[in-house]
Amino acid sequence: MTDKTKITLTVNGTGHAIDVAPRKTLADALREDCGLTGTHLGCEHGVCGACTITVDGAPVRSCLMFAVQAEGADIRTVEGLANGPDLSPLQQFFIEEHALQCGFCTPGFLMLIDGTLKQSPDITDDELTEILSSNLCRCTGYRNIIRAARRALDHARTTTEPAA
Ligand code: FES
Ligand code: FES
Repeated sequence: MTDKTKITLTVNGTGHAIDVAPRKTLADALREDCGLTGTHLGCEHGVCGACTITVDGAPVRSCLMFAVQAEGADIRTVEGLANGPDLSPLQQFFIEEHALQCGFCTPGFLMLIDGTLKQSPDITDDELTEILSSNLCRCTGYRNIIRAARRALDHARTTTEPAA
């Protein structure tokens, strides 16, 4: 049996004091210990991107990070995108562009785009498309996701409000 460690994860601005085994992934801790099941798990070894969140603003595959490594960081998950009942512009663009079908990959794409646009607001359309190829979607064929992401990029270029 592995001894557990007490840590506090700050997720979407809220502290979660939890006990975790040192080898527990951040993805599992978010889902099982923080009750935030919006972060999905697919491959669990860094390939599919379904588990993407942001850590200190950067997109991270949470299945590849231990929970103990994230203590003290600003962790953001899909649950933090909306403002109460109001969806973020990026979420709204996903709906309007029909950028999801089953929705399994969607939290990962949203957080990948959110982190990318915040880190690299001057990214080109082509660079954004290249980054989107790092996450897997088995339903949409990507065109609608790319359209939604480019609308979010255009929104970020033309407003001071956050796109995500
Ligand atoms: S579940 Fe993390 S990359 Fe697939
Ligand atoms: S919407 Fe089904 S996997 Fe992407």
